[in-house]
Amino acid sequence: MSAVAVNPTRPSAPLRDTGWWRHAAIYQVYPRSFADGNGDGVGDLAGVRASLPYLQELGVDAIWLTPWYASPLVDGGYDVADYRSIHPDLGTLDDAEALISEARQAGIRTIIDLVPNHVSSTHPWFAEALAAEPGSAARSRFWFRPGRGEDGSLRPTAWISDFRGETWTRTRNPDGRPGEWYLHLFTPGQPDLNWGHPDVRAEHEAVLRFWFDRGVAGVRIDSAVLLAKDPELPELSSTPEPGRHPYVDRDDVHDIYRSWRALADSYTEPKVLVGEVWLPEPARFAAYLRSDELHMAFNFDFMARPWAAAALRESIEVTLTAHRPVGAPPTWVLSNHDVTRPVTRYGREETSFAFATKRFGVASDLDLGRRRARAAALLTAALPGVLYLYQGDELGLPEVELPPEVITDPMHFRSGGVDPGRDGCRVPLPWTANGSSFGFAPDGVRAWLPQPRDWGRCSVEAQAGDPSSMLSLYRAALALRRSEPALAGTDFAWLDAGPDVLAFRRGSSDAGEIECLVNLGEEPVPIPPGHRVLLASHTVTDNKVEPDGAVWLRPITAEPITGETE
Ligand code: NOJ
Repeated sequence: MSAVAVNPTRPSAPLRDTGWWRHAAIYQVYPRSFADGNGDGVGDLAGVRASLPYLQELGVDAIWLTPWYASPLVDGGYDVADYRSIHPDLGTLDDAEALISEARQAGIRTIIDLVPNHVSSTHPWFAEALAAEPGSAARSRFWFRPGRGEDGSLRPTAWISDFRGETWTRTRNPDGRPGEWYLHLFTPGQPDLNWGHPDVRAEHEAVLRFWFDRGVAGVRIDSAVLLAKDPELPELSSTPEPGRHPYVDRDDVHDIYRSWRALADSYTEPKVLVGEVWLPEPARFAAYLRSDELHMAFNFDFMARPWAAAALRESIEVTLTAHRPVGAPPTWVLSNHDVTRPVTRYGREETSFAFATKRFGVASDLDLGRRRARAAALLTAALPGVLYLYQGDELGLPEVELPPEVITDPMHFRSGGVDPGRDGCRVPLPWTANGSSFGFAPDGVRAWLPQPRDWGRCSVEAQAGDPSSMLSLYRAALALRRSEPALAGTDFAWLDAGPDVLAFRRGSSDAGEIECLVNLGEEPVPIPPGHRVLLASHTVTDNKVEPDGAVWLRPITAEPITGETE
């Protein structure tokens, strides 16, 4: 990837709109797998900078980059050794600053990932804690506890990690004898911080300021519901009261976000806080989005739903209802760096997503998956609120089933090799149809994770000039989303087009109207008279929406589809 050239034909948005985040399209960059600027086979910030024209042409309002900090990469960078420096594989602090400012010139804001629940076990605080005595001030920034049993050889609690297996690791005292245990909800390389400690709070606020002052528009908050812990570290009861679980979604976690919101709001252009909030209960989820807390959170409920009209309709309804009282925008997410790519998932027999059931060798009909992923793109881009798009989904990349020997993800190892882990959605992007890494790196260089042999068919080069490609569909959808006032506001009304069709209207008679129809049934559905097709996920013949297809329609007569439903 070479010289930075921001597309001069599209004037940069002035970026003065402080409410931009309410209707933004946000593109997630996994920097190691996006574009390699320095030719070492690993993606980097130079690669992102050189690709800004691509992102600009795609039509996104912001990028969110997964952690870019110094890290031993035990968990893809979610094990941060230094929150103020950039991993040398990715570049330098100067590169980060250049990226933030060039992106802004291109009309694209930058959101970075903040990882507050845990640090890397190589972080200076943890090294200090290990070198210090049990009960010392240095250890109180973490969760050190003596083991149970006579010789302390039993874990303090039997809590199970989201990454499977134990959440405690025993340390050795400075004299070499077995000592206390420390808590890590993820890998042993990610010790949990004690958010009851004032240093932890002060340090994170300083880190937020450090990046806010450098121009980032906001932060995505990793594991946002896990920070507060019951200091007694009790064993998990089977039915904890809401807000009283030992470490998930405790009531006191909200204090942290209130103070961050005040900090974010103190900037002339207020900064935006995005929560990684995995919670099944809509009201508990929405509590994070109260007006003095986070601006928005990822809609994982929607993301995990199967490709089925009733399930998606219910999720949309639950989402809109939960967000209304707090006034926060809903978000629409089809995937991210942790989950199976939509093209693969929607082509399977089981189309919902769950971490626990990930396995090697699950068959997928990729043509079917691609049709559905195209329809899902139009569905999500038409819903009111914020659209998240994970890199490569705009190219329709499938999940890659990697050979176990190249997998780096701890979820794979900690499952005893049963779970393929998350590297399959992190395979470096194909930019050109040919070449040693399909244009991800300079020719002759291979990408850090192996790319499938036919990756070039999905490349930007192969799709850019093809009006029927997934890339062209995303470009068209994002352009309309930007230019159509009907899609910018919050107006939304369900239309009745039968149980297998998701049909809704956006906009109003003043702002103009757009209707979206998604056919999840097995028979084609006629496009109602009095409508013009603005965009379709498939070639429209006989004026019909095909099974697993979606259309955006402009009503050109006063006739609605069949009337509004409650
Ligand atoms: C959520 C992140 O998205 C995931 O990639 C990471 O492994 C865990 N949090 C732990 O930080």
